[in-house]
Amino acid sequence: MHITMIGSGYVGLVSGVCFADFGHDVICVDKDVGKIEALLKGEIPIFEPGLEQLVTDNVRAGRLSFSTDVETSVAASDVVFIAVGTPSRRGDGHADLSYVYAAAREIAEHVKGFTVIVTKSTVPVGTGDEVERIIRETNPDADVAVVSNPEFLREGAAIEDFKRPDRIVIGLNDDRARSVMTEVYRPLYLNQAPLLFTARRTSELIKYAANAFLAMKITFINEMADLCEKVGANVQEVSRGIGLDGRIGAKFLHAGPGYGGSCFPKDTLALAKTAQDYDSPVRLIETTISINDNRKRAMGRKVIAAMGGDVRGKTIAVLGLTFKPNTDDMRDSPAISVIQTLQDGGATVTGYDPEGMDNARQVIDITYAPDAYRAAQGADALVIVTEWNQFRALDFARLKSVMNAPVLVDLRNIYRHDEVTKHGFVYTSIGRPMNGAEL
Ligand code: UDX
Repeated sequence: MHITMIGSGYVGLVSGVCFADFGHDVICVDKDVGKIEALLKGEIPIFEPGLEQLVTDNVRAGRLSFSTDVETSVAASDVVFIAVGTPSRRGDGHADLSYVYAAAREIAEHVKGFTVIVTKSTVPVGTGDEVERIIRETNPDADVAVVSNPEFLREGAAIEDFKRPDRIVIGLNDDRARSVMTEVYRPLYLNQAPLLFTARRTSELIKYAANAFLAMKITFINEMADLCEKVGANVQEVSRGIGLDGRIGAKFLHAGPGYGGSCFPKDTLALAKTAQDYDSPVRLIETTISINDNRKRAMGRKVIAAMGGDVRGKTIAVLGLTFKPNTDDMRDSPAISVIQTLQDGGATVTGYDPEGMDNARQVIDITYAPDAYRAAQGADALVIVTEWNQFRALDFARLKSVMNAPVLVDLRNIYRHDEVTKHGFVYTSIGRPMNGAEL
């Protein structure tokens, strides 16, 4: 199969590289000349474990290339994926589809022969209909089928997720497109990944429903964590106790500072807006959004409370700035609101993140340290916001010797009470008894 990927951002790049690795011929296209030039030199614009090696291997094998030339690559392709951004539109929270529609127009001008056009970007229900309308309007002779094929990749585990998906969802209403898409995903199909064929609108909604459900699940356990703190229960045990019930499932039940990232905040908002437009509000999701928004600042207040209620003139070290580990992505990271709240309270913040500091510099004005211990130097408290592996075995004796006061606030529950307090630290975590009463 000859595949063009329009948009070489996170989704486009990972998907394009993985399709090439399956043996397809893939051209990743982007309007950003700088990005394509960098990719041609083997420089990867994002941090994603395993991606660089996969790019190098597939470029070397001649299956993967990068280009700014939509015309040539589209004309030569059996399948064209649209994987451009759909950011939240300023003001109303709807997904901004201008890049998707611009891509559709451009593809329509250059298709040759039967071509399957696949929307991989996360798009509201009905976008496939509009993409099809635009293509027919731009080029009435184009022989195309428009397909929805949402992605479910997690940052930091995207290649693994692509190669071993729980399912592949494909929304279409055209038999020729069905056989092309089966061929595109043949290697996974052979690996027994279920291919779920649905109508296009259903497929578009599945993506939002999946992300909204997961966001709701996290928010549920976060509220349980707050309740645990009040009643003296342990949220990790609650998670385990309910997660072992197969109907509930153990995943996405880790209490923390609230979900962030490029998907959950944006997609929950867009789903709520679509539902309102259709006069069928999704109130559970509306509530999830507002609880999660409030939670991020509440976590800043939790840190302040752990430090005695007043942080004026104090120095606080924050470990982990990205919205989760193994990414350099700062989008909607809880760290932003936590730090803002601490700064509003009069504290000075020093931060460290293994991969996210370049991106963090664009959004938060703090002092950046080259490692965890340097960040902790002279600090009145240490706050873990993101659970990078390197923060899971901190040397507490060393930390205590460099800090001004031994206070640890662990917003990801990566430590046990006893292993921290035995070093003389005052320890606060999420939804667990303050006295460390654990099994
Ligand atoms: C998510 C979806 O998982 C993926 O299927 C979709 O395609 C894109 O959005 P991603 O945003 O990369 O992926 O990260 P994910 O691992 O899902 O985490 C999202 C946020 O939820 C992070 O801030 C994470 O820290 C938080 N989270 C996750 C929790 O607080 N608790 C959990 O139990 C799980």
